[in-house]
Amino acid sequence: MSIETKNIIVEKVKTSKIDQVDFDNLAFGSVFTDHMVVCTFKNGEWETPTIMPYQPITLDPSSKIFHYGQSIFEGMKAYKDKDNDIYLFRPLDNFKRLNISAERMCIPQIPEEYFMNSLTTLLQLDKEFIPTKEGSSLYIRPFMFASGNGFHASPANEYKFIIACAPSGAYFSGKVKVLIEEKYSRSANGGVGFAKTGGNYAGQFYPTQLAVAKGYNQVIWTDDSTHEFIEEAGAMNIFIRINDTLITGPTSDRILDGITRKSILEIAKDQGIKTEVRKITVKEVIEAAENGSLKEMFGAGTAAVISPISSFGFRETDYDLPEIENSFNQRLKKIITDIQYNKSEDKFGWRYKV
Ligand code: PLP
Ligand code: COI
Repeated sequence: MSIETKNIIVEKVKTSKIDQVDFDNLAFGSVFTDHMVVCTFKNGEWETPTIMPYQPITLDPSSKIFHYGQSIFEGMKAYKDKDNDIYLFRPLDNFKRLNISAERMCIPQIPEEYFMNSLTTLLQLDKEFIPTKEGSSLYIRPFMFASGNGFHASPANEYKFIIACAPSGAYFSGKVKVLIEEKYSRSANGGVGFAKTGGNYAGQFYPTQLAVAKGYNQVIWTDDSTHEFIEEAGAMNIFIRINDTLITGPTSDRILDGITRKSILEIAKDQGIKTEVRKITVKEVIEAAENGSLKEMFGAGTAAVISPISSFGFRETDYDLPEIENSFNQRLKKIITDIQYNKSEDKFGWRYKV
């Protein structure tokens, strides 16, 4: 049966898959909800979004996504509070960033009402899939790609906007060990590093695999021209604490402007923590590790939340971070997740009730 509501066509599943989900043992992003949003851009306009049963999609072998990688995505989460009300965290920032990525990759802009209405309708429909267990949430993946055909290396004339969701647990299962990379680069000036485009991630897989083989979980990228400055990690922005100052690098056209990053900066300032947004040299991090002033290092992102880094490697040497009490990362994680799960007042106005 198909019903049209709020300019969305809704085709519901006949039987839900909810019984197949083991909510006590959720991995990250590997089981999916009953429905997905699909919206097609054709003849110069977006068609009415459809919510349909989660299913494979069929594409022509010449679809430009396969050849030229015209694809972008976002990462968001939906949270449930103790009353089973559903919340998003700063969703309009994801919406805006999706369109920033779209512009850079020559993908048409998605209108706000298409994004927000289809997302909130999907969440209402699949609300039983939003986990309630501490540390779990519904990971939401809005994405757009070139579905139009042809081997000509130019932007496609047809696109899909899709939202798929996965009830998920933590992104990292244990301690996070990172390797500061100085051979390979994630992005370059004037490139696409600030965009959430698939190729930024595919390009990281090989150097990350080399790091994983040496026992690390993620690579910390340095700038492509000198490799002297810390940029970000594969799936998160990086914060370091030297003595009592929390420092993160400035965003640029090489770095993703993380929503968690900017929220943490605001929370830290509000907490009276001294913050600095400035270039961080690898040299100063090594020196701080050696003289004991490096107190903490953590990654920040939607999937990663706040992930403390237990050690980092640089040129064959591993540097362990101390285990400290009352760490900034624990304090900031509690504040941000309490806002996300509606456990505390939201003085910043970031929570969005669905
Ligand atoms: N940097 C990269 C490369 C990412 O993939 C992510 C995740 O989205 C982040 C940083 C953190 O961004 P956000 O906090 O908006 O999720
Ligand atoms: C996110 O944190 O939402 C991301 O997009 C990172 C991803 C690589 C899992």
